[in-house]
Amino acid sequence: MSTDNSDRKRSASPRGADNETKKGRLERFVAEQQLLSSQSIPTPHTPHVIQTQRLPDSLRKKILVTGGAGFVGSHLVDLLMSQGHEVVVLDNFFTGRKANVEHWLHHPNFSLVRHDVTQPILLEIDQIYHLACPASPPHYQYNPVKTIKTSTMGTINMLGLAKRVKARILLASTSEIYGDPTVHPQPESYWGNVNTIGPRACYDEGKRVAETMMYAYKNQNGVSVRIARIFNTFGPRMHPNDGRVVSNFIIQSLQNKDITIYGSGAQTRSFQYVDDLVKGLHALMNGDYDLPVNLGNPDEYSIKDFATKIRDMTQSKSEIIFLPKVADDPSQREPDISTARRELNWEPRVSVEEGLRKTIEYFRGEVDAAGEIVPTGPDASKPKGAA
Ligand SMILES: NC(=O)c1ccc[n+]([C@@H]2O[C@H](COP(=O)([O-])OP(=O)(O)OC[C@H]3O[C@@H](n4cnc5c(N)ncnc54)[C@H](O)[C@@H]3O)[C@@H](O)[C@H]2O)c1
Repeated sequence: MSTDNSDRKRSASPRGADNETKKGRLERFVAEQQLLSSQSIPTPHTPHVIQTQRLPDSLRKKILVTGGAGFVGSHLVDLLMSQGHEVVVLDNFFTGRKANVEHWLHHPNFSLVRHDVTQPILLEIDQIYHLACPASPPHYQYNPVKTIKTSTMGTINMLGLAKRVKARILLASTSEIYGDPTVHPQPESYWGNVNTIGPRACYDEGKRVAETMMYAYKNQNGVSVRIARIFNTFGPRMHPNDGRVVSNFIIQSLQNKDITIYGSGAQTRSFQYVDDLVKGLHALMNGDYDLPVNLGNPDEYSIKDFATKIRDMTQSKSEIIFLPKVADDPSQREPDISTARRELNWEPRVSVEEGLRKTIEYFRGEVDAAGEIVPTGPDASKPKGAA
């Protein structure tokens, strides 16, 4: 009988130690989960950590971001997640990439849905940022019929959802609705100069009718709408095969390849940094003003000066070469942002130089990871690379 007791004593201590370890491990696991639900996790694409606030139920919104795996959408997701909201990203990954949002995949406030906005979807949400649509000309011209469907059927579907669940909806419209403008700079009251049958029409006219639908739903059904007319935006997470001047000039400069300008280079553009844009989108969504608002940086550059600036900043040996002008390429573009200043108390804060420094660093990483990136030309092309 004595052996029973000693056996019990002998076995009690290792089992106890085992229990201790298990308890300790569980506590550590819970602490780790708590930590993970208060921040993003570092990934190769987004190595810095973003903290998330804890919001009380009364202040926490359920927010849908269509196109949230894209360039602008993913930065907007970072802002909304950091504020402590629940965010649902809906994306078909045509030009968007999972890598743009994978630092949130573990977070309890975040959901990622692979879905095409041309199909209806039922969700319970409070706000919709409707960004789904390819933005770069080679990509939106690759399948113009699909681009039209995305802007028309996609926007109708999101408006139907907004109407059903009484959510406010913000449309990411574009300066392209001004076409090749005859008024400079462009105020929101300018009606535009668009070629309805040109190669850019699938995008420009798609966005114009999307704006029309927004006000039809507002006037007929009382849907709460917001419209941002976004001017050229740049920053980290731009698609490397985007084919527009910022990404192409940086990628060409970093690889010491010829910098290609289509046309004389005298055409002008204004460039805003993505952090400024997402703050503007947020201010517009949460303010009272419900007419279209230009969001852009009025700092205007000729394309030739812009190419030279990027070549200097990257200390590149690239030559600048001139190729034939692209059809319907607007000759000048500069936002009048007096409405945004007055109604949203918003104006861009990040200088083009500062934004370029961060964007050059991002593309340096992309070029290093890929070995070589061949920039996309102005012709229609399918986005390359994995989602
Ligand atoms: N970046 C700019 O300079 C700029 C300028 C003016 C307007 N905008 C507008 O802002 C929005 C975002 O632009 P971006 O630069 O982030 O472009 P982007 O191509 O990086 O992002 C668009 C996102 O929408 C997704 N998408 C496209 N079609 C879809 C569909 N049918 N269903 C679901 N998802 C779909 C893409 O996969 C991508 O993730 C677009 O609506 C664009 O028109 C952008």
